[in-house]
Amino acid sequence: IQGKGEAATAPTPAPQTQAVSKDVTVLYGSQTGNSQSLATNAGKKLEEKGFNVTLSSMNDFKPNTLKKLENLLIVVSTHGEGDPPDNALSFHEFLHGRRAPKLESLRYSVLSLGDSSYEFFCQTGKEFDERLAELGAERLYNRVDCDLDYDEPASEWLQGVLDGLSEGQSSATVSVQETTQTSATSSYSRTNPFQAEVLENLNLNGRGSNKETRHLELSLEGSGIQYQPGDSLGIYPTNDPELVELLLQAGNWSADDKVVINKQGESATLKDALTSSFEITALTKPVLEKAVAYLESEATAELVAKGNEESLKAYINGRDFVDLLRDYGPWKGSAQEFVSILRKMPARLYSIASSLEANPEEVHLTIGAVRYTAHGRERKGVCSVLASERLQPGDTIPVYIQHNQNFKLPENADTPIIMVGPGTGIAPFRAFMQEREESGAEGKSWLFFGDQHFVTDFLYQTEWQKWIKEGVLTKMDVAFSRDTDEKVYVQHRMLQKSKELFAWLEEGAAVYICGDEKNMAHDVQETLLTIIEQEGNMSHEKAEAYLANMQQTKRYQRDVY
Ligand code: 2AM
Repeated sequence: IQGKGEAATAPTPAPQTQAVSKDVTVLYGSQTGNSQSLATNAGKKLEEKGFNVTLSSMNDFKPNTLKKLENLLIVVSTHGEGDPPDNALSFHEFLHGRRAPKLESLRYSVLSLGDSSYEFFCQTGKEFDERLAELGAERLYNRVDCDLDYDEPASEWLQGVLDGLSEGQSSATVSVQETTQTSATSSYSRTNPFQAEVLENLNLNGRGSNKETRHLELSLEGSGIQYQPGDSLGIYPTNDPELVELLLQAGNWSADDKVVINKQGESATLKDALTSSFEITALTKPVLEKAVAYLESEATAELVAKGNEESLKAYINGRDFVDLLRDYGPWKGSAQEFVSILRKMPARLYSIASSLEANPEEVHLTIGAVRYTAHGRERKGVCSVLASERLQPGDTIPVYIQHNQNFKLPENADTPIIMVGPGTGIAPFRAFMQEREESGAEGKSWLFFGDQHFVTDFLYQTEWQKWIKEGVLTKMDVAFSRDTDEKVYVQHRMLQKSKELFAWLEEGAAVYICGDEKNMAHDVQETLLTIIEQEGNMSHEKAEAYLANMQQTKRYQRDVY
């Protein structure tokens, strides 16, 4: 079994002979910021223990210095279908390439982040771990694979790493090097969220639209919370009351039963626990494995058996714990045993749609309501439908800022920016424009927006038009995909303007893509490559190198989901 289980495995014994170096390099590969914050935290702890820490994103690390390192810690997430985060791509490629050096004097450990509802859980971390071993490096502590609730396994990993590093160490002089960045003054965090009051909650789509996109304004008053355009907001949602009711019925439990909800021994009623503390929607393999003992054991064991990955994937797609209990029940254990197998309620991350400069002590979000029917029942996105159906002005909701260094306006306010954000992908660009307006930035800007229909789905239309008029936004191209017989997408608009777009790139423009990863972001990237190839008279390989260089120099950034 992968995942949290591995946190309990024993450390690989370190060689006892030679003196141990006090230099530790911590590299992170982070898409949404979780790995970065864990790496930063690990760096701080190591410094407190007297280590000399160099903390860096994989992107900013010079791989030819790898040979000189003695201790390397890697914190990396996996996203999509087992892909490395954008800022890990080049290092990942280097390490797996033929030019990778032998690393026989290196000691290392990997902390791997992922989501066990995906098939290729923690894939990138596994690849780094295996490859470093292949190159001759020695594990100073076994890799730990973390699921969404990563706090506990991550701190166990750090403890193991500290033990592994300290092994055989004499009382060397302590020199603390200030290389980690300290951020924000607020005491609120992912583990200590702020209760934000809802100020405004509007539907941005017009009557008759196929979509419902909520514009949410939350108050941060008194919190001291700071954020930058490009950062995300984490929200801890509550489950749909009707779904909780169905689950209580399916398990034949009573709502008022008391259950223990965490390792600290706090308790709550079963209804409250299922509402706020646990995830009851997504089914994952590790959870199903734990459920085998309490359900129709043979059938459930068959579901998670080795070799049945495809049918497992088909089963968990669009199903939740109500389906599980109906299909494989009755539940033979107690309600307590049921909540004990569940994952903690994970926060949902949303790209922030506002600038703090323009909206002091406020944060705005653009949230697409997710609803679909599967296996004969309407399914609802946990957080988006909470925002759509239940959050009212005056209500409060637990939130925290997730800093994202991988999606930032250029440091130089004169640098031109190209923003591609169809649908809710528009959110961070509203923040970018607010920020540039507020600071009086002079750099040119170009927005590509798309959605289904001009009349009902042009999100924040009047704001974009105002920014165009004022010159804050230089150019805007829109693609409404369902107003014409033929589909028109943002990338078609980009291709129509390929000459000008390439000219912007040559002037040093930074390109940002936000929104759907699997289809949109992939297709837009292909189109970018085509434009570079065509307008720059380059081979496909040259164009790829051009874009890779843009990525390396932070002129190509993606916030995709
Ligand atoms: P569609 O739903 O009509 O296919 C925001 O959701 C917009 O992105 C919609 O207009 C949607 O069009 C469009 N979209 C869907 N797939 C896309 C893709 N692969 N590339 C770009 N835009 C896409």
